[in-house]
Amino acid sequence: MQVETSRLPRHILITGGAGFIGSNFVHYWCEQYPGDRVVVLDALTYAGNRATVAPLETTANLRFVQGDICDRPLIDALLQEEAIDTVAHLAAESHVDRSILGPGAFVQTNMVGTFTLLESFRQHWMAQGKPEHVRFLHVSTDEVYGSLGADDPSFNETTPYAPNSPYSASKAGSDHLARAYFHTYGMPTLITNCSNNYGPYHFPEKLIPLMCINILLGKPLPVYGDGQNVRDWLYVRDHCRALDLVIHKAIPGETYNVGGNNEAKNIDLVHLLCGLMDELAPELPVRPANQLITFVQDRPGHDRRYAIDATKIRAELGWTPAETVESGLRKTVQWYLDNRQWWQPLLSPQYQAYYESVYAVASN
Ligand code: NAD
Ligand code: TYD
Repeated sequence: MQVETSRLPRHILITGGAGFIGSNFVHYWCEQYPGDRVVVLDALTYAGNRATVAPLETTANLRFVQGDICDRPLIDALLQEEAIDTVAHLAAESHVDRSILGPGAFVQTNMVGTFTLLESFRQHWMAQGKPEHVRFLHVSTDEVYGSLGADDPSFNETTPYAPNSPYSASKAGSDHLARAYFHTYGMPTLITNCSNNYGPYHFPEKLIPLMCINILLGKPLPVYGDGQNVRDWLYVRDHCRALDLVIHKAIPGETYNVGGNNEAKNIDLVHLLCGLMDELAPELPVRPANQLITFVQDRPGHDRRYAIDATKIRAELGWTPAETVESGLRKTVQWYLDNRQWWQPLLSPQYQAYYESVYAVASN
């Protein structure tokens, strides 16, 4: 089901807009809706990079605010000052490996932070007289559904939640809060559960950027366990298009699964990346790059397979992904080749320390 509304300029608050998906979404939104007011709220944790959206601070109607989603007075003031009518909530602690090392920050940001935003927005929405066009989009993950066996049907919107990592458990908790705000207060929340994204501006710790960068540096490519774990991969701009449709067309209270219909085993994906680097990189320290593949100790509690049934968003909102995994990965590899100045500074001493803490254990 869709709502058909003529488009009013929106005042949108994008949380986590200096992170991977958030920054892609900020760029996307400013291109699509140049008449909108965009406010980006980001704490600039290790995963946030203001430089990614900085050019828009002068070229678009965008304000960047460095701040924490747990800071209630800040959120209250921003919603009021900027007359926010739309929230796209992407701020989160997002990396499973870090949630294993230290789950506390995940509970704080993903659960307490989401609660703080929801509660502040509820007061603001009520004070405005509950306008109809207002939306609160909570962006979540397919990982809340847990792990599938090889022959299990894909996750759909009625699959029971069964999160297995502190990351996915904290996201599941925040999804339940967003759902409850619709059912209890009638606040127009929406939830999306998306599969693994990839594309430009992806922090080096995640599988695809990590492999691209390690290939360029001639470092080992650490594949966890037997490499047979399966993920569904979605090009980040396709995800942004889905979020846009949900904000503009979905009925409040709905939830949508978003996926690329691109299931791949980790080891096959890494071979694909190696092949693309061999083809596209003018120089490589080690060629063919697949000589760098190294199997390392598995991640504790590693989910075996994720797969998304995106029938609902396709049928109700007309969304389909534009990229296949081959076309999207080719663009992504080229982006990492062309944008060394973006990723090189991220390989900081702090990042190296994190890397050692995960991969020293994994290599033993
Ligand atoms: P990311 O880690 O790249 O970015 C998160 C951003 O949130 C960073 O800029 C960080 O500084 C900011 N942030 C963290 N804590 C904050 C706080 N307390 N207050 C304000 N800002 C804070 O994450 P991402 O990959 O862009 O993911 C964005 C959202 O999409 C998350 O909610 C994640 O669960 C969800 N998601 C991600 C994927 C994926 O494959 N990356 C897939 C599905 C869903
Ligand atoms: P990741 O990008 O961390 O996303 P998620 O755990 O949220 O799915 O990892 C994707 C897959 O790649 C996952 O099965 C774990 C695996 N992986 C490795 O094999 N080696 C690595 O160094 C990393 C970071 C991930």
